[in-house]
Amino acid sequence: MLDRRAFLGLVPAVLAAPTLLGCTDRVKTHEAGSYDAHATTRHKDDASQAPRIAIIGCGGRGADNLGDLIAAGANVVALCDVDQGALDRAKQRDPKNPLDARTFRDLRELFARRNELALDGVLVSTPDHTHAFATALALRAGLPVYCEKPLTHSLAESRRILALARAARVPTQMGTQIHATENYRRVVELVRAGVIGEITSCDCWVNKGWCCGPTGPVVPPPATLAYDLWLGPAQESPYVDQLHPANWRKYWAFGTGTLGDMGCHMMDLPVWALGLDRASVGTAEIFAQCSDIDSVACPEWTEASWAIRRAANGGGYRGLAAFGGPASTIKDPLVLRWFDNGRMSPIAQELGGKDRQDYHGRFNIAFQGTNGFLFANYGEFLVLPKAIADEPKPAVTAIPPSLGHHREWLDAIRAWRAGSVDACDAPLCAFERSSVLNELVLSGTVAARAGNRIAYDFVEQRFVGSGSHANPEQLWSPQPRSGWSLSDADLDAVLRGVSIRNA
Ligand SMILES: NC(=O)c1ccc[n+]([C@@H]2O[C@H](COP(=O)([O-])OP(=O)(O)OC[C@H]3O[C@@H](n4cnc5c(N)ncnc54)[C@H](O)[C@@H]3O)[C@@H](O)[C@H]2O)c1
Repeated sequence: MLDRRAFLGLVPAVLAAPTLLGCTDRVKTHEAGSYDAHATTRHKDDASQAPRIAIIGCGGRGADNLGDLIAAGANVVALCDVDQGALDRAKQRDPKNPLDARTFRDLRELFARRNELALDGVLVSTPDHTHAFATALALRAGLPVYCEKPLTHSLAESRRILALARAARVPTQMGTQIHATENYRRVVELVRAGVIGEITSCDCWVNKGWCCGPTGPVVPPPATLAYDLWLGPAQESPYVDQLHPANWRKYWAFGTGTLGDMGCHMMDLPVWALGLDRASVGTAEIFAQCSDIDSVACPEWTEASWAIRRAANGGGYRGLAAFGGPASTIKDPLVLRWFDNGRMSPIAQELGGKDRQDYHGRFNIAFQGTNGFLFANYGEFLVLPKAIADEPKPAVTAIPPSLGHHREWLDAIRAWRAGSVDACDAPLCAFERSSVLNELVLSGTVAARAGNRIAYDFVEQRFVGSGSHANPEQLWSPQPRSGWSLSDADLDAVLRGVSIRNA
């Protein structure tokens, strides 16, 4: 006999009676809405319990996420990894106290069994090409989700994930954990206070590259790896030596190159400081160059620039208004630029040469204003010229410290379980905000592949015809394998356990 939870798990929320769900404000009426009412069935008393979380992808960054989640108060009840070795290591992270968690190799089985596990959330830490499928399943199931950066592998996926997140109304967070640190807060405060005047541009860079993926030799996958599950939505291709772990980043089929990997951390700062959100950002003209345009391997280096215009009806940059700064402190269009693997920001190069300082090696971000410059990295900042730096700082509205990136998400889950309607917006990198950063970064990777000037509309979330590529997205819209798309039908087949039975 089906119990109540299992029964609800099989019924589209739009069909279920609100009284049955006991939480009418979460009943979905949206076409793309969550069909699984599990999340609405937890009793209010449960709000005090540690959120029950599943981690998908436990090696590499996933191991850090596991530690951070436990430290932040999560009850990690399930681990999923396609590599038995990563799974074993995660379970035995404290050999004296092995984790009491169910283990899965196939994320589809985890989702099919989500009600048995009474999950409160899912953390996705797989390679980029699986992010959207796992995240979409969580959202479609009405489960809170934390997903590593970049949120998605393609822009089409970003559109779909934002639609699912808006319909699901659950706490979400993208894994840009530097956002929770103090130095970024101080920089945002100073930029917004107008310390270097009107902001005209911002350069971001990293001195490394995930370049030149060797396209061979083809070898058997490691014995512990379920390679077909690792491929997930990606088209079948032979295993290339050293692909897993980590080096998948060098291939477009699985990763997003150096810009996709590091851009989310560095460009997060200007996106935050300049209040670039869905309401304020209009269309960006993007031009990028890279070492070579290759359909298989990511380039050795990339340079990209975005000339960003405000949204016609956006009414200026809301982030500034929220912090007491006038919207006029940002030039329209605003120019953002990206440089990686030895390509240099002209700002860092010129000022560094003049001051005999290695600003390029020391920092990763440079704001240019009408009165001066502000350099930053994860841990420190520098205002130039010195005369401005020495002036008394204007009164700034302090941004409160974060309790921690994972904690923000867990606290939002607790509040959401207790019925707070605002909880979904509480994590600072909720998908409503972080998807803008995601699309900024991914539009740069598409521009690099186009080798031509293109334009992306952040309001419509699509490219607009210009240059020689009327639809540059065609350059990068990988077709998922059968059963692994983000369509309602494929997602619901997994959630009902159909795809596992047929696998
Ligand atoms: N926020 C950060 O600072 C940070 C740092 C490093 C990596 N990352 C992000 O984390 C993600 C993972 O990167 P990584 O360096 O840990 O990669 P990795 O290859 O080292 O580890 C990925 C893990 O996921 C597992 N995995 C792969 N496909 C899976 C699937 N379908 N289901 C379940 N498990 C699967 C792998 O076996 C491996 O254990 C990437 O998106 C990356 O951008 C973020």
